[in-house]
Amino acid sequence: MQFSVRTLAVVAALVLGSGAASAASAEKGRKAFVTNGCWQCHGFEGQGSAVTSNGTVLSGTELPLEAFEGFVRGSNRAMPPYREAILSSADLADMYAFLQSVPKPPAVESIQLLK
Ligand code: HEC
Repeated sequence: MQFSVRTLAVVAALVLGSGAASAASAEKGRKAFVTNGCWQCHGFEGQGSAVTSNGTVLSGTELPLEAFEGFVRGSNRAMPPYREAILSSADLADMYAFLQSVPKPPAVESIQLLK
């Protein structure tokens, strides 16, 4: 009996542990990007908008995750900061995975119609 309880505990620890360590999810990140209102300034695909027209495209971001999170937590300019109490690091990691899954838009200079 004692053995099976211990076995159960080990199995539970493995299952829960692997859940916590699972990779960030782009799909969850897409939802978090919408529910947290990031789309209002950055566009639904992180493509940027009139609000963030100057180089703040987030899709295909080349920022490392730490810098991405650092900016979101500590912004003191045009973007409001999002502290941990209202936006978890897990949600941010998911958003990061989502943004990395969206291809970067082409450079404006490369679009013939805009010339
Ligand atoms: C009110 C409009 C607004 C909202 C809402 C907003 N942002 Fe921003 N964001 C900006 C602006 C404007 C900048 C450029 C700001 C600057 O350079 O100070 C920016 C910059 C950033 C950057 C830095 C990009 C870079 O390459 O330097 C990241 C990362 C970012 N936003 C993520 C997010 C995330 C994630 C959310 C949602 C949790 C969010 N933003 C919500 C307006 C917004």
